[in-house]
Amino acid sequence: MANSILKVRALKKYFPVRSGFFSKPVAWVKAVDGVTLEMEQGEVLGLVGESGCGKTTLVNVLLKLEEPTSGEVFFDGLDLFNMDKKSLRKIRKNIQIVFQDPFWSLNPRLLIRDIVGEPIKVHTNCGGEELATKVGDLMEMVGLPRNGVYKYPHEFSGGERQRIAIARALALSPKLVVLDEPTSSIDVLSQAQILELLRDLKERLGLTYILISHDLSVVNYMADRIAVMYLGKIVEYGPAEDVFGQTAHPYTKALFAAIPTLDTEGIDSITTIEGNVPSAINPPSGCRFHTRCPMAKDICKEKEPGMVDCDEGHIAACHFIKQKPGG
Ligand SMILES: Nc1ncnc2c1ncn2[C@@H]1O[C@H](COP(=O)(O)OP(=O)(O)OP(=O)(O)O)[C@@H](O)[C@H]1O
Ligand code: SF4
Ligand SMILES: [Mg+2]
Repeated sequence: MANSILKVRALKKYFPVRSGFFSKPVAWVKAVDGVTLEMEQGEVLGLVGESGCGKTTLVNVLLKLEEPTSGEVFFDGLDLFNMDKKSLRKIRKNIQIVFQDPFWSLNPRLLIRDIVGEPIKVHTNCGGEELATKVGDLMEMVGLPRNGVYKYPHEFSGGERQRIAIARALALSPKLVVLDEPTSSIDVLSQAQILELLRDLKERLGLTYILISHDLSVVNYMADRIAVMYLGKIVEYGPAEDVFGQTAHPYTKALFAAIPTLDTEGIDSITTIEGNVPSAINPPSGCRFHTRCPMAKDICKEKEPGMVDCDEGHIAACHFIKQKPGG
């Protein structure tokens, strides 16, 4: 990739399962189990998959909010897992996260000036009026009035609180912003406005986003590239138009078929994926999706499929996908 900003290689995060507080692990939750991906500066990567497939764990490990089990992450060419604390702190300024629920991520006892200004205070000597002015600028940037800096979070609506969380994430002019379900806890009208704001900010500030969302219409609206996760692994990855238009993996097909569309009539016409997600402690052998896959054959239980090139930059892990000629 010419303008690569993030490279992830064979990343794993296993959580220990213990029978008592001090006991040795009896098993491991394989939350992220060998993820490799690359992002270009200025693009939006949509990360999708059912609840519990490891999306949040993947981004937490990327940001080093959680210790990785193994693997490598390079941000702007720098090895995030092999650097001293001071350098990591500097780099962290460039990677920010916006969480799902702005109510819980904003301290209710603090003024907006202190919530949004906190990262600025931590990383610079800025304070007093200068800080209030900077926070006022950030408020304007996210479409909120400047005088909001002297209010508390409860004085804002859900959509406005999410704007405040975005202002906080942008306080240090990051390059990469992780949006973990940024619109799922707010009303539909505010959702659309927040998405428009995020798109506008991305253009104006040249941001790169990782967008996690259950809502595939949100991902369709925002993402340039899509990664589909199932039980800790990426099963399909590629340009958004290809993943949506020429969906390759049976899991992605099932996931897309489960979305109610405008022309579906009633709940009966909505297909859901058969069965429950298996445990990440003991994932199924071979292809992890075989216990729910309508196309599964004997080989799927025994052999794990490798990634196959479906088209330029579009890959998927299934035994029955035809390799692109010459790929
Ligand atoms: N701190 C933890 N300790 C043990 N297991 C964990 C921990 N955090 C996450 N897990 C497990 O790791 C797996 C992946 O969880 P994760 O929260 O990353 O999924 P997700 O895709 O973000 O789900 P959702 O869509 O519900 O947010 C799940 O099985 C979860 O129970
Ligand atoms: S490898 Fe087999 S089980 Fe897995 S997605 Fe393909 S057909 Fe289904
Ligand atoms: Mg999550």
